[in-house]
Amino acid sequence: MKVNNMKTKFVLLAAIAAALTASPVFAATESAATKWANECGGCHVAYPAKFLPAATWTKIMSGLDKHFGSDASLDAQTSKAISGYLATNAGSGKHGESPASLRISDTRWFQREHSEEMDPSIFKSPLVKSVANCGACHLGVAKGDYSERNIRIPGQGNRRNDD
Ligand code: HEC
Ligand code: HEC
Repeated sequence: MKVNNMKTKFVLLAAIAAALTASPVFAATESAATKWANECGGCHVAYPAKFLPAATWTKIMSGLDKHFGSDASLDAQTSKAISGYLATNAGSGKHGESPASLRISDTRWFQREHSEEMDPSIFKSPLVKSVANCGACHLGVAKGDYSERNIRIPGQGNRRNDD
């Protein structure tokens, strides 16, 4: 009897877990961030929403068919979910600047952070390729970590530990 009860309990729990996972509420809360990570992280790192204001994200999301020379079009539903995610997590204050080019790398805060101790030619080096290739130097991009502690310029060793 005991064994049977355990089994019944397990089957019930599994059914509840399956129902929860399939429920629209659960799916909706989890999937906006997941969609963003998957769709916006396919060609380059998924640039954190906090680095551009909502107005810039809106412009980016409304021009995905002509996205920095690429076609990054999405279906309407996915686009809407990602737009919502970006607006909710958008930047403000120092990160509230809306660059005409729509590039994070053209904001004043970005240029200030990246000009002081760096030779601009590093962005064109074969190891970096593009200023937009954040992950070449920021080792924690997969976790959204752009902090000073987690930077290594390719070919120059770990500058943070050299200080
Ligand atoms: C089909 C490939 C592709 C997809 C998918 C894609 N992008 Fe891009 N994106 C590019 C390219 C190419 C660039 C230019 C990179 C460069 O200059 O080196 C770019 C650049 C950017 C930049 C500017 C980076 C800078 O220089 O500061 C932002 C912001 C951006 N993308 C956001 C997004 C968002 C948001 C999504 C998801 C909705 C997305 N991208 C999906 C190809 C893509
Ligand atoms: C060639 C290497 C390199 C690339 C590529 C690069 N960064 Fe940086 N980043 C740095 C260095 C070096 C600093 C300065 C750290 C310091 O102040 O000592 C920095 C600083 C920053 C800071 C400030 C960190 C802090 O805590 O003060 C942010 C945010 C940042 N970068 C975001 C980005 C983003 C977003 C991209 C891509 C669009 C990018 N970086 C591309 C090297 C790079």
